[in-house]
Amino acid sequence: MEIVIRKDAQAVAKQAADIIEKYAREGAVLGLATGSSPIATYQELIRRHREEGLSFKDCSVFMLDEYVGLEPTHEQSYARTIRREFADHVDIEDSRVYSPAGVSEDPLQAARDYERKLAAHHVGIQLLGIGTNGHIGFNEPTSSLNSLTRLKTLHPQTIKDNARFFDTAEEVPTHVLTQGLASIRRAGHLLLVATGEGKAEAIRQTVEGPLSGMCPASCLQLHPHATILIDEDAASKLTFTEYYRYADDHKPENQDY
Ligand code: GLP
Repeated sequence: MEIVIRKDAQAVAKQAADIIEKYAREGAVLGLATGSSPIATYQELIRRHREEGLSFKDCSVFMLDEYVGLEPTHEQSYARTIRREFADHVDIEDSRVYSPAGVSEDPLQAARDYERKLAAHHVGIQLLGIGTNGHIGFNEPTSSLNSLTRLKTLHPQTIKDNARFFDTAEEVPTHVLTQGLASIRRAGHLLLVATGEGKAEAIRQTVEGPLSGMCPASCLQLHPHATILIDEDAASKLTFTEYYRYADDHKPENQDY
């Protein structure tokens, strides 16, 4: 794993946009995430699209997860959120933005269908946020490290964390469809972004804790190309920071993140 520490959220977003830009130029399949962590990155990519002509026209997008019971037109569905925060503002074809079907007669089948569609593509880069309990996508603690897209019940803490996007906590769906930890790891490059002190403990467990289903993000330790891009606050509980900074300062020439 590569641990990259930047001064603040803005510097994290700029670095993340630099990394994603390279994949966009190749017309790669982009794995995208919702939540507040990637928003500044999306804004920077939108700026580059508008001001510098960065094009996404050959890209397609696969989303990590979706709430069960929310129509794709619901403002808080992840299908709608990614369009509002990013896809509607760049030149990605709408029909090439894929999400698990939040509303279907058979959510178990919808999960299998999404997994099949996803497996037919090679995701070049997967952008990830992290929950305060170490979840990625909606893979809550105790998720199998080998899980595929499936139906999950949210942890009450996640419902509480995500209630800020809804009028009341009761409106947050209790179930979701999420790519599994093995589905996520099929992407060529995993880029996890986290900022703020609230994420420091989850980052400590992800980077320096054991590989464990209790911290789903720790499965990035199994991936040959994982970048953990964090600000000083999110890095504040790491113990090996001197080495991470040293390695970043001495990055071999011609080696991209
Ligand atoms: C949700 C999403 C995750 C996201 C997490 C953290 O639970 N399913 O993909 O990483 O929230 O969100 P935030 O970035 O807002 O802290």
